[in-house]
Amino acid sequence: MSDQTAGGFIVIAHRGASGYLPEHTLAAAAMAHAMEAGYIEQDVVMSRDGELIVLHDLTLDAVTDVAARFPGRQRADGHYYAIDFNLAEIRTLLVHERRKPGGSLAFPGRFAAPGVDFRVPTLREEIALIQELNRSTGRDVGVYVEPKSPAWHRAEGRDLLAAVVGVLAEFGYDSRDDKAFLQSFDFESLRELRFDLGSDLKLVQLIGENRWGESPSDFDYLRSAEGLAAIAAFADGIGPWLPQVIRVRGADAGQPTGLVAAAHRHGLLVHAYTLRADQLLDTIPSLETAVDLLVNRIGLDGVFTDHPDRVIRALRDQSTRPSSE
Ligand code: G3P
Ligand code: CA
Repeated sequence: MSDQTAGGFIVIAHRGASGYLPEHTLAAAAMAHAMEAGYIEQDVVMSRDGELIVLHDLTLDAVTDVAARFPGRQRADGHYYAIDFNLAEIRTLLVHERRKPGGSLAFPGRFAAPGVDFRVPTLREEIALIQELNRSTGRDVGVYVEPKSPAWHRAEGRDLLAAVVGVLAEFGYDSRDDKAFLQSFDFESLRELRFDLGSDLKLVQLIGENRWGESPSDFDYLRSAEGLAAIAAFADGIGPWLPQVIRVRGADAGQPTGLVAAAHRHGLLVHAYTLRADQLLDTIPSLETAVDLLVNRIGLDGVFTDHPDRVIRALRDQSTRPSSE
């Protein structure tokens, strides 16, 4: 089986194989590649000296030892922003499993061994790793890049979008036929990528809930027929969170919400986030049941998952199951 199963369903390793190794480390990316994920996700922010690093948050607090290593370097809000540190400083930090503000593990039960040396990679390092593993294994695992909070970076005087497009082009990702997606919660950033920066890469509009305060975009509008048409005018897909595509509570749990069908009517792909074996959707008893529903009832085109091996195995089991079952 290729990295895409029959029907083109794609498995996107969310922050690498983050269910098993600390998110966005090169180890997590290598593990996701070995698991035969179709794509590996990179969230990207900028350092003080303009390097692109693979990190989910604008701050280093939740996944590194920055507070212990650089006391006093936090801003007035108490947080240690990656953009206030040069790459050489960021390289000295040790990465650990994500912790909540109080210090407890975000996902208890995940990688816990102390003293293992994980670091924050640059986007260039991670893409080089993936491309070299592609060469040595003969696979074609793609990249799925999210420039984080472009408007915030702009307010800091940085052009994150142009920098990301530039690094991707360095590695040969510059056309829609390349194995690369760009994703953003910010509709204006997606438009900027397409029209101002002239990117020809496949673009995905991430969709959350307005109450999260994730971006200036109006997600209620973007989910409407008018909003989907506006996305489809220049982009290739949407990335809603799972409860926006599958009902997870009540008598109709497991049924579609209608968003996937609506997006498909506009010719948009739907890649939903985030399927986790250790944080299941309400009322859906297992990751494998979720995969079955998402593929066969909901009609999703792909999923972001912390556990790509489990999703791929479930897809393979489905495709080998006798049709009478
Ligand atoms: O980009 C898809 C998914 O990763 C969006 O959520 O917060 O994990 O970046 P987040
Ligand atoms: Ca992301």
